Formats: sequence, structure tokens, C-alpha cells
Amino acid sequence: MADLSILAFSMIVGAVARSPVLATYRQHPGLQQRLRDCRVDLSFALHRGWAIEGAVGSDFKIDASYISPNVSVASSIEHATRQYGIRILVSETVREILSKEVSAKLRLIDKVTIKGSRVPLELSCLDLDFRRVQVEDRPELPIVWNSRYRFKSRHAIEVRKNHLWTDQFSKAHIMNKDPHFQEMRTEYTTVFMQTFNMGYQNYSQGEWQVAKNLLTKTLSMRGEKDGPSEALLRFMEKDNFKAPDGWRGIHALEEA
Ligand SMILES: *[C@@H]1O[C@H](CO)[C@@H](O)[C@H](O)[C@H]1NC(C)=O
Ligand SMILES: *[C@@H]1O[C@H](CO)[C@@H](O)[C@H](O)[C@H]1NC(C)=O
Repeated sequence: MADLSILAFSMIVGAVARSPVLATYRQHPGLQQRLRDCRVDLSFALHRGWAIEGAVGSDFKIDASYISPNVSVASSIEHATRQYGIRILVSETVREILSKEVSAKLRLIDKVTIKGSRVPLELSCLDLDFRRVQVEDRPELPIVWNSRYRFKSRHAIEVRKNHLWTDQFSKAHIMNKDPHFQEMRTEYTTVFMQTFNMGYQNYSQGEWQVAKNLLTKTLSMRGEKDGPSEALLRFMEKDNFKAPDGWRGIHALEEA
């Protein structure tokens, strides 16, 4: 289930970037005039725990909602995607139950304390450069949603889900075969990953001058600025790139 959640979110990020319908809104004059560079952009956080599912609200408005300390943590992590400039952020509670192959696709980018979690949590991201993918030029099929079509598509979704659930192939294999996933990962080369990992280790161990050099490299190694490198540099800069006394590689997540 954990593997499937990573697979699902990576596909959603790609599908939103490729959608011809959403692409036309990026050129909508009225919309762009009011909201500059407006585009549909989703971010996700994955965390594990329990939740109460129920209806919350008043007589006037009722929301189907999920509530628990763990959900609050998930929501704080989701907010943090903006600080790190990434789209999918995964807490260590999820990473530890992933298959080895899927886990290997993630990048450890920080260790933080979060209100609502008793223990500090490692955060990892799934790197996907969605700006690389081409918008599909195939126009959407003009679907008339009637009950028959709805039933058929629900059935198709069930079949696909059962297939994925029992699939012998690892979910990593499905990602590897997906050309859009490949495309979004091209700039995350082994050199990039190794340089960042080394920089992160040095940051974590308090060797901030060394970390600064490495993360400055990864900041501009790809076509666009690397968000996690930028976030760690920004954090170290506050202390002039000298780790505070008693530094243990953990800091409090900035409240958004
Ligand atoms: C979920 O929250 C509870 C209460 O704060 C905590 O005891 C538990 O460890 C959390 N679970 C995870 C997986 O973080
Ligand atoms: C930086 O991190 C790398 C990888 O963990 C390690 O080999 C190296 O010794 C570290 N450098 C310093 C100065 O701590």
C-alpha cells in the first residue's frame, strides 16, 4: 500500500503537467491577468498513523474529514513542501515500510521536529521535474457522463486496482517503465544525488562549511535551482554556516 501511494502521487504529478485542459488555463488571458503565472500545481505529504473519519461542521456546512495528531503532522509536512520547493514529501514512518526499490528513489533532505510528533522525523522527497514533460496534444475525448459510462469506468478502475494490488512486479518496475516518470527524473543524475547526499551528511554532522560547498554545487547543478539545497543553505546561513553548540542534525520545522 505504501509503494502504491508513492506510485499514485508520482502519476498524478505527471498527469497534471500533461493535461491539455489544464494547459489551456495557463494561457487564459483573464486568469493570467489577475493571477500571474497561474498554474494548477499540487503538493503531497505522506505520513503514517491513525485517523478518525467523520462528518465535522454545523447544520450549515458539513465536511467529511479525517482528524488525528498524525493527520496534523501530515498536514504540517505538506506545508513544508513549499519551503523545500518540491512536490512530494515522505516522512520516515512511510519510508521504512516501502520496498527497497521504491525507497531507493527517494532523497533524504532533512530531519525535523514537528508539533504533534513526539519524535523527530526524517523527511525525504520524490524528485520529479514536472516542467520537463510535454503537454499532450491529443484533445480529451468528449465524454458524456451518464450512469452507464460511470459504471463502466468505475469497474475499469477496480480491475486496474486489483491488478496492481496483486501484481508480482514491484511498483518501482512500473515507475521505471513509465516514460513520463523517466522524463521527470532525467536531471537527477547519480553525480547530483551523490553530491547532495554527501552535503546532507556533512550538514547533519555539523560540518557546515563543507556542506555549504557541496550544497552550493547541487543548488545550480540542474537546469533550475534545487529547492532542498536552497532550504538547507538558507537554514545554515542564519548561523553563518557554523553549527550551533550541541547540534545533532535536527531542527524545528518552520511554521508556515
Ligand atoms: C500517531 O500519533 C500518536 C499520538 O501522538 C503517536 O503516539 C504515534 O506514534 C503516531 N504514529 C506515527 C506513525 O507517527
Ligand atoms: C562529509 O561527508 C562525507 C560522506 O558522509 C564523509 O565521507 C566526509 O568525511 C565528510 N566530511 C567532513 C569534513 O565531515
